[in-house]
Amino acid sequence: MESKVLKSMMKIASQHTLNVVNNALKPYNVQSPPIKIQPVSNLVDVDYNTPTLLQVFNQNKDKKTKQAFGLADIKAFCHKVIESFNPEDKDCAIEKLGVTDQGFLTIKLKQQVIEDEINNILKNGLNYPTEKKQKIAVDFSSPNIAKEMHVGHLRSTIIGESICRIFEFQNHEVLRINHLGDWGTQFGMLITYMKRKYPNFLNEPIDLSDLTMFYKESKKLFDEDPEFKKTAQLTVVDLQSGDPECRKAWEILCEISRREFTEIYKRLDITLEDFGESFYNDKIPAVIQDLKDAGMLVESDGAQCVFIEKYKNQPPLFIVKKDGGYGYDSTDMACIKYRLKTLNCNRLVYITDVGQQPHFDYIIAAAEKIGWHVPPTTRAEHMGFGIVQGEDGKRFRTRSSETVKLKDLLDEARERALEKIKERISGGAKEEGAEEDEEEKENKGNYTKLSEEEYLDAAEKMGMAAIKYYDLRQNRISNYNFSYDKMLDTKGNTAVYLLYSYARLCSIIRKSGVQSEELCKIIQTQGFKISHPQERIIASLLIKFPDVLDQVTEDLAINRLTDYMYDLACKVAEGYRKYHINNSEDKLTRILLIEATRQVLEKCFYLVGIKPLEKI
Ligand code: ARG
Repeated sequence: MESKVLKSMMKIASQHTLNVVNNALKPYNVQSPPIKIQPVSNLVDVDYNTPTLLQVFNQNKDKKTKQAFGLADIKAFCHKVIESFNPEDKDCAIEKLGVTDQGFLTIKLKQQVIEDEINNILKNGLNYPTEKKQKIAVDFSSPNIAKEMHVGHLRSTIIGESICRIFEFQNHEVLRINHLGDWGTQFGMLITYMKRKYPNFLNEPIDLSDLTMFYKESKKLFDEDPEFKKTAQLTVVDLQSGDPECRKAWEILCEISRREFTEIYKRLDITLEDFGESFYNDKIPAVIQDLKDAGMLVESDGAQCVFIEKYKNQPPLFIVKKDGGYGYDSTDMACIKYRLKTLNCNRLVYITDVGQQPHFDYIIAAAEKIGWHVPPTTRAEHMGFGIVQGEDGKRFRTRSSETVKLKDLLDEARERALEKIKERISGGAKEEGAEEDEEEKENKGNYTKLSEEEYLDAAEKMGMAAIKYYDLRQNRISNYNFSYDKMLDTKGNTAVYLLYSYARLCSIIRKSGVQSEELCKIIQTQGFKISHPQERIIASLLIKFPDVLDQVTEDLAINRLTDYMYDLACKVAEGYRKYHINNSEDKLTRILLIEATRQVLEKCFYLVGIKPLEKI
């Protein structure tokens, strides 16, 4: 039966290679372990390779003779496997096996297999439902009420949105959770200050546009005025015991902050559901009881703590603080229990900077010790990321201001993108990927194809894309230097380069004059056929798309997807240099490959949160 979903070619290639290897090993009564496969993207005759044969050889090596299966070395063993391979086997997806200098077995897929899968994409679109659907809680963004949302939260927001989209594409059930810092002792001083500054806040709407300033002022009083400090501490108790006036003030503060966050989320196209720290407050007492019952709660210097042997060099978790209050640790214990035991999530992902890794390691280990978290049935990970620094590697600031407000940062990205677009009005800037070819010559010069009304919208899309992509393409653990120039570069692994590549695919299709109904007809009748070696390289890369996503969600490494996107764009650009499309007798089938590439790139854009432009 024809499958309407994408296939994992890696699984197929791995399984078929295993069959061949086991066939060769039959006379020795030996079975190979599963074949570990890695994609290769640059070679005409190789789609994947595997080091597994090396392992088989070494495991069967005679200590004295250093031989295995009567063969002198790994290469001889690979050749033996290759000999036993029957390329005529109709059920096998492999056309050819080979061996590299290091003794890796190389695998080349049958052309037909690749063409069939490209036709599958063209006919049925891109669907890749996972075999095991899971309920996954992704804890991301999570800024703090009344405080500025900073670049760290920006990273968490961008990474979180993207990993959610990828999980959702794999058909998992995803809970996108904003674990807002909306509870805790700081509300004592905020509410006290609110009462002082706006005595009538219960009856009149207040104008509090600069919440950060408000926070700073109240913090100053808290630090300098003992009377104020005392009142603030009492107010925390009032808030926690549900005093209506305090509650109202708290709600007002949360509401103002939320409005600010929502603006940023809207601009970045982020979807989140608020489950702030306050949500877990009434769940903490039961958790304390659980920990007590499990014998895990230990008194230490007046506080109730949880110690984990493995982390004995770190401070413990403070479940009940010295003053009887609950803090970050208490909330996260209640939170992890809720996600695992009430929501029944199979997988938890926490996205914050790497500085919080020890906290989450501790929380996860404690949840495992008490039995809420049972790996590998449940999976819990901290997806940490590095710090964003200024271009000079020092503290980060924008052109216009000392401290970095997120809104200013996004505005500046848009302004700079606009400058880029405007450079092209005069035809000054060189168009990316502007290798001279028939399409380019037609274009003459590098004038933007956007109309004036479209500039701003395009600049906003380009600016947001540049920021997001530059962030996602980093190895997330490392720190990186924020550079508008680098992220808006038209060359190299940037969103701008990819947007140009995408617009170019669209432009080739437009210029071909092939209408979409006609395209459908060609797909149904003749289908795609490889007509040039470079097309094989592109097609082989396209069908690796679902495997890339599996790797991304396995390792929580979104940069594998961005690398894939860049690789794809580069291979397509090479194609433009090597063969003609609209002036070729293979025009129709070549347009099909362009269309399949467009679809895959469009999906990748969506997964990393980029809105494509059909023209630039
Ligand atoms: N609000 C915290 C911060 O700004 C991040 C919260 C992360 N999530 C959690 N469950 N603790 O650092």
